[in-house]
Amino acid sequence: MNKLIAPSLLAADFGRLKEEIEMINASEADWIHIDVMDGLFVPNISFGFPILKYINKYAKKPLDVHLMIVQPEKYFERFKEFGANILTIHYEACTHLHRYVHAIKDLGMKAGVVLNPHTPVHVLENILDDIDLVLLMSVNPGFGGQKFIENTYLKLANLKKLLSQGNGKIKIEVDGGIDLTHARKLFLSGADILVAGNSIFSSENPLETISFFKRI
Ligand code: DX5
Ligand code: ZN
Repeated sequence: MNKLIAPSLLAADFGRLKEEIEMINASEADWIHIDVMDGLFVPNISFGFPILKYINKYAKKPLDVHLMIVQPEKYFERFKEFGANILTIHYEACTHLHRYVHAIKDLGMKAGVVLNPHTPVHVLENILDDIDLVLLMSVNPGFGGQKFIENTYLKLANLKKLLSQGNGKIKIEVDGGIDLTHARKLFLSGADILVAGNSIFSSENPLETISFFKRI
């Protein structure tokens, strides 16, 4: 299966950030997933531009930046400047989603829309021609290491059905609580990209775990 894996740096050891990024560089991972939290949209604060600057300096894989922040549109240019290749914004945080998606694309990045676990996929019906990616949250955003929500499989099936009416170019990413036991079913249900934080970085051999994900 030609499916993509995006390790989430939130679960990395920040005291060894450079080594952790080099591990991802040397691995079979496809993207690096970067979780930006503002303490408003989600009840947690992660990191911002000073850290992103170093991630961008050392990373050799595309930066998949997941914005869990209010008013994300204020920062699109800066995320571009700091190396973001894919920028995903929450449906729940955007009043003018259509405008923001095009602003991201105009800056030369791929634009993705993220849905919280409670948000039905049909809200995307009128924006399907505009987006590159849909990210389904399989936990409530804000923290790594949470339990995978099983209803995600049903949502994935609904999303696949919705996307079958479109141009077939939209990728599906799933994020939160994913370990090797979920990966096969998620890929078979239509996921193209899986994000994994703790299941990779807390494993004994992260390089090998990434390889297992790729071979699932
Ligand atoms: C949750 C983040 C996820 C998280 C994934 O708010 O968006 O990307 O870091 O980490 P795990 O795989 O540990 O749930
Ligand atoms: Zn994320």
